[in-house]
Amino acid sequence: MENIKSYVQENKDRFINELIELLKMPSVSADAAYSQDVIETSEAVKVSLEKAGCDFVEICETDGYPIVYGEKIIDKNLPTVLVYGHYDVQPADPMELWTSPPFEPVIKTTDIHPEGAIFARGACDDKGQMYMHVKAFEYMIQSNTLPCNVKFMIEGEEEVGSVNLKTFVENNIEKLKNDVILISDTGMISNQQPSITTGLRGLSYVEVEVTGPNRDLHSGLYGGAVANPINILAKMIASLHDENNHITIPGFYDNVEELSLEERAEMAKAPFSLEKYKKALDLKDVYGEKGYVTNERNSIRPTLDVNGIWGGYTGAGAKTVIASQAFAKISMRLVPNQEWEQITELFTKHFMSIAPDSVTVKVTPHHGGQGYVTPIDSIGYKAANMAYTETFGVPAIPVRSGGSIPIVALFEKELKSKTILMGFGLDSDAIHSPNEHFGIFNYLKGIETIPLFYKYFVELSK
Ligand code: BES
Ligand code: MN
Ligand code: MN
Repeated sequence: MENIKSYVQENKDRFINELIELLKMPSVSADAAYSQDVIETSEAVKVSLEKAGCDFVEICETDGYPIVYGEKIIDKNLPTVLVYGHYDVQPADPMELWTSPPFEPVIKTTDIHPEGAIFARGACDDKGQMYMHVKAFEYMIQSNTLPCNVKFMIEGEEEVGSVNLKTFVENNIEKLKNDVILISDTGMISNQQPSITTGLRGLSYVEVEVTGPNRDLHSGLYGGAVANPINILAKMIASLHDENNHITIPGFYDNVEELSLEERAEMAKAPFSLEKYKKALDLKDVYGEKGYVTNERNSIRPTLDVNGIWGGYTGAGAKTVIASQAFAKISMRLVPNQEWEQITELFTKHFMSIAPDSVTVKVTPHHGGQGYVTPIDSIGYKAANMAYTETFGVPAIPVRSGGSIPIVALFEKELKSKTILMGFGLDSDAIHSPNEHFGIFNYLKGIETIPLFYKYFVELSK
């Protein structure tokens, strides 16, 4: 059988069309209106694993959306790669900002993707990247070059915190046993410069509610005499950062690992242009914690951000009113060693303590998870680097990402194996935003690179 490069060339139209079919399914896990679509997507993933060559595929029911599990065991004495990915996607809103409908995939060219990119919700995060693994596996089966055992675990609740996957992993340690976990759900520096993600941030996500008077009031009759929950909430939120943009919650930084100057100098070697960064976002200047540069602020430092804030009158025209309640959703991105449950407690205690007596405050925790760091001297990292070096012509650079895949820390704890994050997306692919897309180059390059990871991982494991 021909090599992977020619296999990709011969089959690329089919690979693209199959992904397009998957992207037509609106598997939005956050919105119950799409629950039937999410379930249908899990079935499509199951069929794709069967067709690609798994010996055994099953839909594992959970208290939420199902997990698709598949495997090909060729020899119990050989290493096992566990591939994780997710078939659920983020909500597409705001719909009106899409240049083509989010669940009607189209190929368009961009400055960064002159050979075309597939525009659709989930194209990059994570259907496109997950499906690269299915097609790379198909190649290894077709060419009889699969060098080890493979297990697939594709879930449908990543975008809502992987709560049921946690239980599934805890209850299936033996079934999921592996020598390395392989995930493509992150990004790389550019199409000329591959990188391997060596760190993910943790997360604590909370919702806050500030209640003032027991009903909405006339803002003339009562204004100035009672607390306005929206004013108070804004003030409380503003106080969570000081003038240096440090977070003011007592104890928040207690377990934060300080990187050495050498490690920070190493990080600074990764190619990065602040001018291009600002230009891509139409910003006059960047903003963040004093004492750290942009690439540190968004990876090795913890943050606190309001994700949404609401209350009072937001309709047309003006309505003079003091609302009874104000709300906000707040996320804290955490770094390794910070315990997310402890941070949630510290936040709650502090937020309650800064509330004036004129209002009552409620804090409701949502989901969370631990951060992750992985060494660059493991067999898995080396195998990934060898694979990238071969397909891109240059070695990969280790990069710590600001994003979170909370289940990765749990994998290490429960399954005792390292995760290798071989991402092929770009920051400009607009994941979670309108007009999400995934480069055809990236998709095909991923399919080409993955079998080499298997090859080198098995070689280095001997
Ligand atoms: N694939 C992303 C995470 C990601 C993207 C990590 C790019 C690194 C680079 C994942 O689907 C995601 O969106 N995670 C959420 C957390 C989850 C608990 C909702 C996130 O980071 O906001
Ligand atoms: Mn993802
Ligand atoms: Mn995501």
